[in-house]
Amino acid sequence: MDNLLSLQGKHILVTGASSGMGKVFAQMAAAQGARVSLLARNEERLKVTLESLEGEGHDFCTCDLTEDDQLTDIVNKIDQLDGIVLCAGINDFVPVKFIKQEKISKMFQTNYFSQLILVQKLLKKKLINKGASIVFISSISSMLGVQGTLLYASSKGAINSAVRVLASELANQRIRVNAICPGIVKTEMLSGTNVDEDVFTKQEALYPLGLGTPKDVGGAVLFHLSDASRWLTGQCMIMDGGFTLN
Ligand SMILES: NC(=O)c1ccc[n+]([C@@H]2O[C@H](COP(=O)([O-])OP(=O)(O)OC[C@H]3O[C@@H](n4cnc5c(N)ncnc54)[C@H](OP(=O)(O)O)[C@@H]3O)[C@@H](O)[C@H]2O)c1
Repeated sequence: MDNLLSLQGKHILVTGASSGMGKVFAQMAAAQGARVSLLARNEERLKVTLESLEGEGHDFCTCDLTEDDQLTDIVNKIDQLDGIVLCAGINDFVPVKFIKQEKISKMFQTNYFSQLILVQKLLKKKLINKGASIVFISSISSMLGVQGTLLYASSKGAINSAVRVLASELANQRIRVNAICPGIVKTEMLSGTNVDEDVFTKQEALYPLGLGTPKDVGGAVLFHLSDASRWLTGQCMIMDGGFTLN
């Protein structure tokens, strides 16, 4: 019987592959047989990810997704894709009173506009194959009202809306578009925030299955990239260790 979960023969682009979840998703996709292209800004860390991948033919491109000319460059260099994992993103905890225009621009440019522009440029050049899968990494924050997350939560909420429209527009090409909305996952993103460690300790108590690891989310990413999910499109899948059961 066919192994529907295999990624053998597929070419997958992973953005945000220099650290955290993107790095692990790239490793997991390569372990399932995919040829993986890695994207992020930091060349040194991308090289570390590249060296950790099983199999052959993988490559990386350094790119600041918020720079339109760099995006165009990438799209001119990359070859046909069977899957895209849009994992690059930033976070910032700012109460509404302290939000400045430049913070709004940076958050939306990175977490929302650049992702859509990348997909649009790839579509225009017909670089996304029939049967391909596009997976956005959104966040459970998009569905909650946690104080200080206005910018982050709304940038991810915009992704959730985009997923449904894109899924509908691309279905005739059999390109599927979905999002995964993780709860708290232990990565570099969290250690880089100004939130105290004891906030996370308190949060952990609210997660029936504990806080997530990149691998926990990676299983769902592999499913979305594989033919096992070929009848799934336009969905935002909550993955939060049971947090929203409370
Ligand atoms: N950790 C969580 O609890 C959690 C929960 C829900 C959703 N998420 C989402 O999951 C995704 C991955 O988060 P993570 O926790 O793995 O964070 P992370 O370790 O900080 O990784 C973020 C990645 O995005 C890349 N990136 C940021 N800005 C970029 C830009 N302008 N151009 C290109 N690449 C850029 C970074 O690479 P460079 O610095 O090398 O560019 C890095 O590889 C994010 O979208 C995040 O919002 C995280």
